[in-house]
Amino acid sequence: MRKLIIAVDGPAGSGKSTVARGVATRLGYTYIDSGAMYRAVAWKMREEGVDPADARAVTCIARQIRLEFRPVEGQQHLFVDGVDVSEAIRAPEISRLSSIVSAIPGVRQAMVQQQRRIGAGGGVVMEGRDIGTVVFPHADLKIYLDAALEERARRRCAELQSRGTACSYQEVLREMVERDARDKSRAHSPLRPAPDAVRIDTTGLTAEQVIDRIVDLARERQGNR
Ligand code: DC
Repeated sequence: MRKLIIAVDGPAGSGKSTVARGVATRLGYTYIDSGAMYRAVAWKMREEGVDPADARAVTCIARQIRLEFRPVEGQQHLFVDGVDVSEAIRAPEISRLSSIVSAIPGVRQAMVQQQRRIGAGGGVVMEGRDIGTVVFPHADLKIYLDAALEERARRRCAELQSRGTACSYQEVLREMVERDARDKSRAHSPLRPAPDAVRIDTTGLTAEQVIDRIVDLARERQGNR
């Protein structure tokens, strides 16, 4: 069976991570969370006390850091220069900083290069904001997930709470509006659906329903070409 490249894009809280991970498990593919890579750059920048406004210094970090996805007790963890940052990169402050650093062209260039290398052989489900538009414009299957803002904020709050982080719904909502606006309006690779993406509104759908739909589409494409 031909191994596909599947791109899953969409805003924060659209269900990308749960769905992309589920699709990868069902198909026996590798799951790659490209957002975690931008979060890793933001984490390293803060560790080193670099100013997010210093585009040149942040680009240097993005070019030099060693990023590795490795399984730990059945979960995929991300290591930055050998340090497991999987938990640390989920902090709200890192969400904010990652959206800022991801607007820097040099940072995007460095990340896109790594993402293309990781996905080149196929058999991969990669989630992000620009996977179907920039990273893999010829992906075999492109999915664009979205959901109502309030639903996305509720999901993000539930996710933070499940990690033991206190969460204010209003705060998350405000932060999400700000981050969406920044991700959609940046000059380089803004968040937008690829023209040939299959768009799914996940409001009111369970993750299983969305996963089923994408797996069906993937099987069709595997047979079709
Ligand atoms: O998906 P996430 O919330 O973990 O992503 C964190 C930030 O990284 C998000 O605000 C935008 C950015 N990002 C990006 O610009 N391109 C991607 N392919 C993935 C994430």
